[in-house]
Amino acid sequence: MVMTITYKNITTAREEAGQAFIGIATLNRPSVLNALNHELMTELVAALQEFDQDETVRAIVITGSDRAFAAGADIKEMCDETTVSMMLKDRLATWDKIKNIKKPIIAAVSGFALGGGCELSMMCDIIIASETAQFGQPEINIGVIPGAGGTQRLTRVLGKYKAMELTLTGRPFSAKEALELGLVNKVLPVELYLEEAKAMAREIAAKSPIAVRLAKEAVLKSFDGTLDEGLTFERKNFYMLFSSEDQKEGMKAFLEKRKAVFTGR
Ligand code: HXC
Repeated sequence: MVMTITYKNITTAREEAGQAFIGIATLNRPSVLNALNHELMTELVAALQEFDQDETVRAIVITGSDRAFAAGADIKEMCDETTVSMMLKDRLATWDKIKNIKKPIIAAVSGFALGGGCELSMMCDIIIASETAQFGQPEINIGVIPGAGGTQRLTRVLGKYKAMELTLTGRPFSAKEALELGLVNKVLPVELYLEEAKAMAREIAAKSPIAVRLAKEAVLKSFDGTLDEGLTFERKNFYMLFSSEDQKEGMKAFLEKRKAVFTGR
């Protein structure tokens, strides 16, 4: 029996790839540039788990729209949280489940991939970007820090100095710079990036699924150990920031469309 789940904030599709299929999950909250609220992330994780369980699906593509992969975690949803509420809800535990998907995931990124959006792309195994993609970890501008792996994954790819610059300034960077930094695999014109991501997924779908699974597992193993320590550390600090006035000010200022005034409290 094939289970069909209808989602509110994403769409999913299975496309033929020879004898098998590739699974496509498309983020779909266009009015807020695909801001990643809890409901969307819960749906995305459910969709990825369904693809992971489906033996006919051999590789997965996550994409957004040409304008936005995702402009970050949903600031409106987080604005009034406290350290205690963040820890009790522990919504990032849902994001963590993406780490356990066994099949390769390709991010097809166009437009904004900021904050949690950039982090979501870095949770994927391969990143194909359009020329218009804009990456960045702008959390510092709203009084917090990356909370879904950004400080750890960015640093592992870019090294300390670039990661420090990008995390501390929050400066967005182009697809071209991301390619030069080794953060993305390929950059293509906006009409072609999604097709290229699907083509790569189809290429992988033609390989031995068990070899692909073990290859992915082995590559990821090289990040083990201290990555988890780093992620736990980062999570604690991210949640701690919800005790600060600067987090409230930063997020409120964004929603009220004004410049934040930080006091360091
Ligand atoms: C909630 C968001 C949003 C977000 C955009 N919107 N990003 N809502 N959370 N992250 C909403 C806007 O409020 C606006 O809603 C609509 O989307 C369109 O956005 P505009 O700002 O009008 O568009 P534009 O002028 O083109 O600017 C695009 C932008 C800007 C540069 C991407 O929206 C922006 O700076 N967004 C925030 C980026 C950010 O700080 N991301 C990090 C979030 S923290 P209305 O209702 O006004 O039309 C994070 C932490 C992750 O990700 C940690 C793990 C959870």
